Amino acid sequence: MSKKNAGLKENESGLKNDGSEKSNFNLNVALTPTKIVEFLNRYIVGQDKAKRAVAVALRNRERRRRLSPEIAREISPKNILMVGPTGVGKTEIARRLSSLVQAPFVKVEATKFTEVGYVGRDVESIVRDLVDAAVAMVRKQMLADVQEPAAERAEQRLVDALLPRSDKKFSMPDIMRVFGGVPEGEAEGEPEEVRKNEATRERLLTMLREGRLEDREVEIEIAENAAVGIPLFGASGMDSMGINLSEILGGMLPKKSKKRRMKISEARRALTAEEAEKLIDTEALSQEALDKAQEDGIVFLDELDKIVAKGGGGSSPDVSREGVQRDLLPIVEGSVVQTRYGPVKTDHVLFIAAGAFSGVKPSDLIPELQGRFPIRVELQPLSWENLQQILIEPENSLLKQYTALIGTEGVELRFTDDATREIAVLASKMNAEMEDIGARRLHTMLEQLLEEVSFEVCDDSRKVIEIDVGFVQNRLNCLVENRDIRRYLL
Ligand SMILES: Nc1ncnc2c1ncn2[C@@H]1O[C@H](COP(=O)(O)OP(=O)(O)OP(=O)(O)O)[C@@H](O)[C@H]1O
Ligand SMILES: [Mg+2]
Repeated sequence: MSKKNAGLKENESGLKNDGSEKSNFNLNVALTPTKIVEFLNRYIVGQDKAKRAVAVALRNRERRRRLSPEIAREISPKNILMVGPTGVGKTEIARRLSSLVQAPFVKVEATKFTEVGYVGRDVESIVRDLVDAAVAMVRKQMLADVQEPAAERAEQRLVDALLPRSDKKFSMPDIMRVFGGVPEGEAEGEPEEVRKNEATRERLLTMLREGRLEDREVEIEIAENAAVGIPLFGASGMDSMGINLSEILGGMLPKKSKKRRMKISEARRALTAEEAEKLIDTEALSQEALDKAQEDGIVFLDELDKIVAKGGGGSSPDVSREGVQRDLLPIVEGSVVQTRYGPVKTDHVLFIAAGAFSGVKPSDLIPELQGRFPIRVELQPLSWENLQQILIEPENSLLKQYTALIGTEGVELRFTDDATREIAVLASKMNAEMEDIGARRLHTMLEQLLEEVSFEVCDDSRKVIEIDVGFVQNRLNCLVENRDIRRYLL
């Protein structure tokens, strides 16, 4: 296969991204609740109720899409509140979900709004972030859709760069580079020259398409990223109104372009990207993104319990927490938020909230907010059996990560069954005796367990290092038994 084909492959793989995005529309159709749960099962152990709840909530959006506008308008999303101890998979479910669904998705910590300097309307930034996510999504899709024409235009510009249309003074050096020399005494008499020029262009184009010039150098003029690197004014003030000054001004200022010398293969990529940007209809992009955000948007509100006022006292931090709840309310209930792409209605945005609610209860939330989260799911504390599964089973589980890391040194790390069992039992014991931090305990324990191996593996002559129960006990038992040490290390 010629190099051109290699070039094409690259394009195709670029297209594949959106190709898969395109099929993602169908993907949403194919995402039945069972499929969603199946997907989540690959990463998260247990927590079946929570998985089912989010699966149904997602499916309901697809169902709503199939209805006539009259009834669809009436159906508001059934927001979910996930309650469960720390480290049992709440955030993890949201994280995995976001990689699965083709919907604009943002994750925010509710505590972000209790920080010093908080002003009421800041909560609207959630919606603006959601729209930004939608814009990024739609743009990616649109860019993919115009890859072909963009590549064609890029090719024309490459030919122009190699052989400027009329200006022979500039054409000579590049042309010579390509053909390795130019016959003397050519280019007399206008029409003749033009004809020859055209013929040369054709030849160049063919060579380009066949990928025969990929490694040649060419000088192209390429737009510099105008908006980058000019932070005009303090971003925060203007940004909170959804206005980006450098973007506005950037649009008014003439786009700076810069001459750069690079390989044709590289230039092709840069020019295609630039042409693709030009081909995008920004108006349509904004509109589609706004629609997507308000129809399909998902907001994951983490740490909701942290904005619950403790005990009915009137101390000021608690007041501000309740203030955050009040500010969140209109967004969750459905209101219109101005963004720089236009107004967004939040009525149909799906909210999934999560919180440990250890010192407080969901019923301590202000009643209006409670009412907006009708679906409550409890996540279960993790048993030692769960912990062992978490070590081993999920895709890219902790053990798989360590094994892969050590594997890069040419050493195979092997864990025996009773070793993983021992780790899980010890972790569970630590959770019971100290603070229950769920699966997070496994992270520190494994780090302690493998510290020595990690350090010494490069000098180790063994091809296989087996971690058995004895090894685990050796390394961890003394830590577990010693109250002072374990407080710091595990
Ligand atoms: N059920 C589970 N299956 C697989 N991994 C899990 C599970 N629960 C927790 N983990 C792992 O433990 C870590 C912490 O989990 P996560 O962030 O979901 O906790 P959380 O429930 O959101 O806790 P918090 O209330 O403190 O925010 C993650 O690295 C995650 O991979
Ligand atoms: Mg969390």
